Amino acid sequence: MPLSFFQRLLLATLLLVIIWTLFGPSGLGEELLSLSLASLLPAPASPGPPLALPRLLIPNQEACSGPGVPPFLLILVCTAPANLNQRNAIRASWGGLREARGLGVRTLFLVGEPHGQHLTGGSQGNDLARESAAKGDILQAAFQDSYRNLTLKTLSGLNWADKHCPMARYVLKTDDDVYVNVPELVSELILRGGPMEKGMGTRKEARAVEGKQQGRALQEETVPLLYLGRVHWRVNPSRTPGSRHQVSEEQWPPTWGPFPPYASGTGYVLSASAVQLILKVASGAPPLPLEDVFVGVSARRGGLSPTHCVKLAGATHYPLDRCCYGKFLLTSHKLDPWKMQEAWKLVNGLDGERTTPFCSWLQGVLGILRCRVIAWLHS
Ligand SMILES: *[C@@H]1O[C@H](CO)[C@@H](O)[C@H](O)[C@H]1NC(C)=O
Repeated sequence: MPLSFFQRLLLATLLLVIIWTLFGPSGLGEELLSLSLASLLPAPASPGPPLALPRLLIPNQEACSGPGVPPFLLILVCTAPANLNQRNAIRASWGGLREARGLGVRTLFLVGEPHGQHLTGGSQGNDLARESAAKGDILQAAFQDSYRNLTLKTLSGLNWADKHCPMARYVLKTDDDVYVNVPELVSELILRGGPMEKGMGTRKEARAVEGKQQGRALQEETVPLLYLGRVHWRVNPSRTPGSRHQVSEEQWPPTWGPFPPYASGTGYVLSASAVQLILKVASGAPPLPLEDVFVGVSARRGGLSPTHCVKLAGATHYPLDRCCYGKFLLTSHKLDPWKMQEAWKLVNGLDGERTTPFCSWLQGVLGILRCRVIAWLHS
């Protein structure tokens, strides 16, 4: 029986709605797709030799074990030595939170050496030492701070987390121009837990080596592997000379094709077990200057694939909106220090507003979809 014009129209509309729901701005399709990634993984590589990382100039070993609730979530913020205003905006807003949903949170800043510090003992280095003494939230490693050294910075941070903050179940790596919705992120992590670990032939050996650290091994078993972020699919390396993102053919030969799926560096979460896994296999991974791609490549080597989460912003900047920033987003990118404080005030309000809900009924129903449409209209 041939369909009438209206039936066809109805069918086409229905189809469009379904496709839009799955692959449109809700991000549902991508989240579903990322769940299938695990089944496509190659066999995990064996762990390489230990990583050779630069020594720490400001080791801040007590940052996690100090007074207060031990951290459930450790937030590592990559920042350049000169970005004092950004750091202060974070300290005065979300970075000042020590607890969320009854669990401990700690925010620390990762820096390298300001340009020329080791040559002259320059003043910026002294400024950092002073800032660290005053705030106690800085980790500095001995390498030249530059965009192309971000992988070194991230690895130093993850290594520090593993050594000096083993009680933190999750680590968020983010940047100093990102707003982080700490309470909702903690809720999300409690909810997700992450897939149970698998594909890890290396674990038993690792445990034998670390056998003396009984407490650690125990805790390791209770934290499932999780690598959560805004996943970028099939990104090809940029070969543009002089570009910040340039990757040479030596670093990533053309025959290797696009990068494996990786989580955007503006904000991704690794569980403590995932941090250990990445540190174990990282020395055998190609030395890419792009830290987020590097972490993705390492995770893949270890048999771990990223899980997509639409609530993490990736490179998207969301316009300030109380409902989005308070409830539906976990991160938003590209906030200058002023906007960072504006966003904080908007969400936390003056004392009176704190009790009013973030979203109206309709906003609540539309959820992240509305936030993404606003961002799209704004861009
Ligand atoms: C990264 O840091 C090392 C150690 O300080 C330095 O030798 C190197 O030049 C830096 N690389 C870049 C691209 O800045």
